[in-house]
Amino acid sequence: MSAEFPTACDSLATGSTGVDKSGDRVRGMFSEIAPRYDLVNRMLSGGIDVWWRHVTVSRAPPPESGAILDVCTGTGDLALAYAEKAGPGVRIVGSDFCRPMLDRGIEKSARSGRTVEWIEADAMALPFADRSFDLVTVAFGLRNIADTRQGLAEMARVLKAGGRLAILEFSLPRNAAVRSFYLFYFRRVLPLIGNAVARNASDAYTYLNRSVEEFPSGDRLSAIVADAGFSAVQAVPLTFGIATLTIATRSGTDG
Ligand SMILES: C[S@@+](CC[C@H](N)C(=O)[O-])C[C@H]1O[C@@H](n2cnc3c(N)ncnc32)[C@H](O)[C@@H]1O
Repeated sequence: MSAEFPTACDSLATGSTGVDKSGDRVRGMFSEIAPRYDLVNRMLSGGIDVWWRHVTVSRAPPPESGAILDVCTGTGDLALAYAEKAGPGVRIVGSDFCRPMLDRGIEKSARSGRTVEWIEADAMALPFADRSFDLVTVAFGLRNIADTRQGLAEMARVLKAGGRLAILEFSLPRNAAVRSFYLFYFRRVLPLIGNAVARNASDAYTYLNRSVEEFPSGDRLSAIVADAGFSAVQAVPLTFGIATLTIATRSGTDG
């Protein structure tokens, strides 16, 4: 195990990590930054996050009929991207446990005319029947769920056999030079800008870089996903590997 990720695998077994991801802390932090969340995303990523969601919709396209669930939907950008692409017969649900984040998504869907069902729910106890979705997505959310394995177990439970899972998450570049440049930006510059623009008492943008640095990515995340009941797990690095799209298929057959 690398020195930079001292506790990630062990912590996944217990659901506790070095970073405080308790529900109250995470919900409180996103409640504080919700009004400026989208603005800060665009500023800090230079708009690349919009393209990453576009790649997600292209690589894990909406089914022709059936239902899509976007877990940890936040202000709903990925759910809304699917609503733009999917046909009229597809049900799109966005769930999150932070009401102020969801409220932004509700405003955006009203403005854009794209229909999404917004549900306030904890990703570790989803209020949906077994095997009720054809596609489950989660963008920059899995890392924030207090117990990664429980979150993945819930996503597997609500997916139909053969249904697909798409996880878009930050990761760290593998190339040493790119990685050290990126880590400087990520550790020193990003928290200063993020916390200044989205004024908050939770130090949300220091939490961001800490939670990314300790979260497994690449092959390690793929192994955890496979362990949760998925096959054909494929990890696609995006933009020098600062984000990774992991796509997998729910194993088994529907009885
Ligand atoms: C970084 S935001 C990502 C939002 C959105 N998916 C995007 O791409 O911008 C993470 C979201 O995960 C939500 N979240 C974290 N843990 C959660 C949990 N256990 N259940 C439901 N939502 C959770 C937070 O409330 C927050 O809205």
